[in-house]
Amino acid sequence: MKAIVIYKSKTGLTKKYAKWIQEELRCDLLEEKKATVKTLQGYDVIIFGSYIRVEKIWGIKKLLGQVGKEGQKKVVLFSTGSVDPVRKGTRSRQ
Ligand SMILES: Cc1cc2nc3c(=O)[nH]c(=O)nc-3n(C[C@H](O)[C@H](O)[C@H](O)COP(=O)(O)O)c2cc1C
Repeated sequence: MKAIVIYKSKTGLTKKYAKWIQEELRCDLLEEKKATVKTLQGYDVIIFGSYIRVEKIWGIKKLLGQVGKEGQKKVVLFSTGSVDPVRKGTRSRQ
């Protein structure tokens, strides 16, 4: 299976994680703004990482649009953020 890690990063944290994943899997790595429908067609597994801003993972809609519905691609998602989701959930229940 051919895999690629695609990342979107403003300050470099997501890029760092993307590189670690890419090194571990020994697959390709590409910045999100350079990804095209044509590029993605050559992969079976697309690992997409981005940052969270105002509780949204940025760039995910565009990426999923580029992946499309053709074929049987696997899409794996990761994100970086500064808010601890567990603590946040705890607070909101109080
Ligand atoms: C304007 C702004 C909004 C943010 N909103 C969130 C948020 O809702 N949840 C969260 O966990 N982190 C939030 N963060 C923190 C970033 O997601 C975090 O610093 C991220 O790791 C940055 O990734 P990057 O270095 O790849 O750009 C926010 C940061 C900024 C500047």
